[in-house]
Amino acid sequence: MVKIITVAHQKGGVGKSTLAINLALCFKEQLSVILVDTDLQGSLYHSREDFADLTIIGTDQVDDLTALSCDLIVVDTPPYLSSRLPDIFRVSDFVLVPTKAGFFDLMAVRGTLALISDAQQKFPQIKAGIVRNMVKPRSGLTRDISDILTELGAPLLNTLIHDRVSIARTSITKGILSSSDEKAKQEIMSLAEEIVQMIISD
Ligand SMILES: Nc1ncnc2c1ncn2[C@@H]1O[C@H](COP(=O)(O)OP(=O)(O)O)[C@@H](O)[C@H]1O
Ligand SMILES: [Mg+2]
Repeated sequence: MVKIITVAHQKGGVGKSTLAINLALCFKEQLSVILVDTDLQGSLYHSREDFADLTIIGTDQVDDLTALSCDLIVVDTPPYLSSRLPDIFRVSDFVLVPTKAGFFDLMAVRGTLALISDAQQKFPQIKAGIVRNMVKPRSGLTRDISDILTELGAPLLNTLIHDRVSIARTSITKGILSSSDEKAKQEIMSLAEEIVQMIISD
């Protein structure tokens, strides 16, 4: 059965679309993947010609995600608590929540986490994880924020994605896998692997 990974956070600029496209391209090496862009502004959908060998469809092209025929669907979501999110979470195997390590980012993530918890009450198979993105090296703040998130009971992933020019240039480089930045590639592959492990574990 198709697996669904949804990338969500009610705030913009945390790296949802960047991680969604890079994960989709990474998984595409071994699986048939469709990226569904549910952001009405449709940034990935509108960039689909930059990623010609990946199927990217807009939200209006699909009523029922589970009816799409492929191995894996990566869903990008808008930067607000869309009324469609509960329906998307309900069919998701994994919800990835990227966050930056700033105070206001942390406050914002709580709304998204609450929505995920609500969905998990009814559908306990939904797994979730927070990935710290755009991490700056030697940042004490990152450590403090990580401690607070752990106290909130948030499922914090081990993989850190650092603030890297190569990742910011994703659309130009056609995805991090085709970049020469080995460290960035390693981070995205490690994130993909961590998500797979969580999906298959029970
Ligand atoms: N790890 C990273 N390192 C450097 N820049 C990043 C990283 N992740 C995202 N960005 C940049 O941050 C900005 C916001 O990312 P985006 O994926 O559009 O966020 P969202 O979809 O959550 O609004 C973009 O300019 C993107 O290139
Ligand atoms: Mg986006």
